[in-house]
Amino acid sequence: MKIGVVGAGTMGNGIAQVAAFAGHNVTLRDVDAGLVEKGLQTIRASLRKIVDKMDIADRDERYVQTLQRIRPATDWPSLSDCDFVIEAVFEDYATKLEVFRALEGICGDGAVLASNTSSISITRLAAGLKQPGRLIGMHFMNPVPLMKLVEIVRGLATTAETYEKTRALAVELGKTPVEVRDFPGFISNRVLMPMINEAVFALMEGVAEPEAIDQVMKLGMNHPMGPLRLADLIGLDVCLSIMNVLYDGFKDPKYRPCPLLRQMVDAGWLGRKTGKGFYDYQ
Ligand code: CAA
Repeated sequence: MKIGVVGAGTMGNGIAQVAAFAGHNVTLRDVDAGLVEKGLQTIRASLRKIVDKMDIADRDERYVQTLQRIRPATDWPSLSDCDFVIEAVFEDYATKLEVFRALEGICGDGAVLASNTSSISITRLAAGLKQPGRLIGMHFMNPVPLMKLVEIVRGLATTAETYEKTRALAVELGKTPVEVRDFPGFISNRVLMPMINEAVFALMEGVAEPEAIDQVMKLGMNHPMGPLRLADLIGLDVCLSIMNVLYDGFKDPKYRPCPLLRQMVDAGWLGRKTGKGFYDYQ
């Protein structure tokens, strides 16, 4: 299958990596060649770690073949032969709609268009398209090469055929698909983000230091990472934006974003990607 990935950032490059690793030809597109190259660098480093741990004789061959399946692109026509395109651009409704409109203009009628959105309504995005039935949510988790889950989000108009193709692709990529309906935050972020937000409230109120909060959840609940370190991995701007989606979507004060989270985003302390969040990564 020919797979297109739009956006070579954290999620996009991870998706391109797993698709190529599973044997698909992938076109990885971003707006400039430097961004695509940065995505490819991340793929090379992650793929190296993964193949080096595999119990196979031809590790180097597997590494090279996987990379050779990824074609970098900065234009739209390069995606015209794709059977399945996954969008992983900035989490903004207008930007995503623009991407899907461009894809509608160049992809064949049979192509499935999927969004890796973590919180934007699939139903609302689909309403702006000529063929809303072929749009679906395919929400991967970070880091994509390691996390088993793909949350598959059916919009009101998503057809059964689109759903079946998406579910089958997720399985082929070695992931476990879980079907959810199109409600704010879906399931993953509706449950995860209030936990992270509450950890930030606990920090703001001086209940405990960041390390202590994270240790409680790691050692007490067997979470692989504490909520504050996980927030740094996800990006504090992303966490804030998802809390806002939950708050606006449900109009329930239990989803109000913690003022400390807002303040850290205002300061530009967004977690690992900026070198500073609840922890220091310099
Ligand atoms: N590619 C390949 N290998 C990787 C990797 C990557 N991107 N990231 C880490 N690894 C490897 C490490 O090199 C390490 O290998 P060794 O054991 O050989 O040294 C191994 O994975 C374990 O990594 P670490 O020792 O650094 O740390 P860890 O044991 O805590 O595992 C983790 C890292 C898998 C990220 C784990 O901490 C974890 O599962 N954390 C929770 C992640 C999570 O909840 N993700 C969901 C976020 S929410 C989301 O994505 C959705 C949204 O919409 C916001």
